[in-house]
Amino acid sequence: MKELIWDQSLSVQVKEIDEDHRRLVELFNLLLHAVEEGDTTEYVEALLEELLSCTNWHFKHEERLMLKYSYAHADAHKREHRSLIESAKALQQKFIAGGRMISAEEIEFLEQWLTGHIFGADMEMGVYLGEVM
Ligand SMILES: [Fe+2]
Repeated sequence: MKELIWDQSLSVQVKEIDEDHRRLVELFNLLLHAVEEGDTTEYVEALLEELLSCTNWHFKHEERLMLKYSYAHADAHKREHRSLIESAKALQQKFIAGGRMISAEEIEFLEQWLTGHIFGADMEMGVYLGEVM
């Protein structure tokens, strides 16, 4: 399993959003290391919960900026946020109910979950916000 490196390729060119994303990447890496190092499921569960709450908070932050600066694609972007939260919650519930460690596939899923949205919808939003903020 590979650590995520935050570099300029992940930057959406909006400082306050980049700062949130850096934190999410950090949390993802903590989770990855906890799984690799065989930490307890209780600890991994706490990290997953922290990752989800921070993501929830961060989505609200982006949604407020989209509203403030009248971003035309805000609705579609918000729908993507809702669906990302739902898929992560489904993974979290499966993990809690399963009584086993998170699998490499699930870590891979979370990596795609995090970076896919940043490289797609967030980059597009960043271009707009960069011009109007
Ligand atoms: Fe977003």
